[in-house]
Amino acid sequence: MTARNRVVRAATAESLATSQGAPSERLVSLYQQLAAGGVGTIITGYSYVSADGKPSEYALSLCDDRLESEYRALVDAAHDGGACIIAQLVYGGSKSKLAADDPRRITVLKSGNVGSASAGLQDAAIAVSPGVCSELSAGVHDVAPNVRVVEPSARPNVRIVGPSAVPNPATGLVPREASSADLARIASQFADAAARAKRCGFDGVEVHVAHGYLLGQFLSPFFNRRTDEYGGSIENRARFACECIAAVREAVGDGFPIFAKLNSSDKRDGSTGLVEEDSLVVAGMLIDAGASAIEVSGDWHAFNAGDAFDGPFFGSYGARLARMIDAPVIVTGGWRDPRKAERYLDETSVAAIGVSRPLICEPDLPLKWESGALYPSRCTSCNHCAKSSGIPCVFNKE
Ligand SMILES: Cc1cc2nc3c(=O)[nH]c(=O)nc-3n(C[C@H](O)[C@H](O)[C@H](O)COP(=O)(O)O)c2cc1C
Ligand code: SF4
Repeated sequence: MTARNRVVRAATAESLATSQGAPSERLVSLYQQLAAGGVGTIITGYSYVSADGKPSEYALSLCDDRLESEYRALVDAAHDGGACIIAQLVYGGSKSKLAADDPRRITVLKSGNVGSASAGLQDAAIAVSPGVCSELSAGVHDVAPNVRVVEPSARPNVRIVGPSAVPNPATGLVPREASSADLARIASQFADAAARAKRCGFDGVEVHVAHGYLLGQFLSPFFNRRTDEYGGSIENRARFACECIAAVREAVGDGFPIFAKLNSSDKRDGSTGLVEEDSLVVAGMLIDAGASAIEVSGDWHAFNAGDAFDGPFFGSYGARLARMIDAPVIVTGGWRDPRKAERYLDETSVAAIGVSRPLICEPDLPLKWESGALYPSRCTSCNHCAKSSGIPCVFNKE
């Protein structure tokens, strides 16, 4: 894949898909704008590979062959404007934000039988707090004696799985520990989604191994408490992500780019979850499994309100990784000043920078930089754009 420059639009969930997960006309026109604005490569917002892995409402879906024509329009929007386009693939897991009518919710009835509460919980994907929810709501996993938990109906494949049944601090969801059959199914769903993306004309795919979604959770000792071959050592914790990459490679064949987005660490201070030394090992393993490039990110949430400080956030890890592996490395997060980015790209072996919020603020920023207007992005990292669908920027009020 050859892109026209070294600026990548990092995956940004725009929440502009239809309820079936198809790209909407608004999304197509946003990609037209981005491509016309000069970015070299666009990575789509996360696209789920399986209905039970849908990470949020109005996310893109790549688990349905019927959406091919809408995806072709999205791909054309990028290509017509001169940009390459990569489909990001995700399985949400317990980080998923469930809409009110999400079938993965379980029903909470105020009826009072502790026995059935625990019986329900053994089999439930989600546990709920009676204090938080009167009807349908997800919350923490304690269940008071006056609450009964039932599932509305048996719905195979609509449960949320995780490496272990650890409550997610961000959502309160408690996943069911994935069985080896679940893992084989999900790996093959990644493969199917990638093959679908290839058929729709994408230039490549990116497997989301970062930010606390399922594959990233497997890497993290916080979420992954398994004692089988998928838990414990970093080689074991990386096994599932590698199996997904290998399945994707098998499905798309040689020569089709597969990026992997990987956390340098789960926290910037490395104190909880995946740490940098382990992440370097994982990057090598992902390449050996069939990935063509690594996009470096970090944190469970990827961006925080305090991010206004001068980036890049993961520059030193990225430079170190680029020296270690024989594959392109993209470093994402915190790029605001084009002069600084240029210097970094000159002084390291990093292939490209990944940019999200500055392109929400100004989709044509790459073109402006190219024309010599080398001013830093106006984005203040306030994260207002992440709070509603359509990624509205405070600077672009209509
Ligand atoms: C609104 C919004 C949605 C995002 N959606 C995704 C996503 O779907 N997949 C992903 O890997 N990262 C996602 N990110 C994280 C970005 O790709 C990027 O890693 C992060 O914002 C840091 O880069 P920046 O400082 O250039 O914004 C999102 C960020 C924002 C602000
Ligand atoms: S809303 Fe805030 S974080 Fe989002 S692009 Fe605009 S300035 Fe940046």
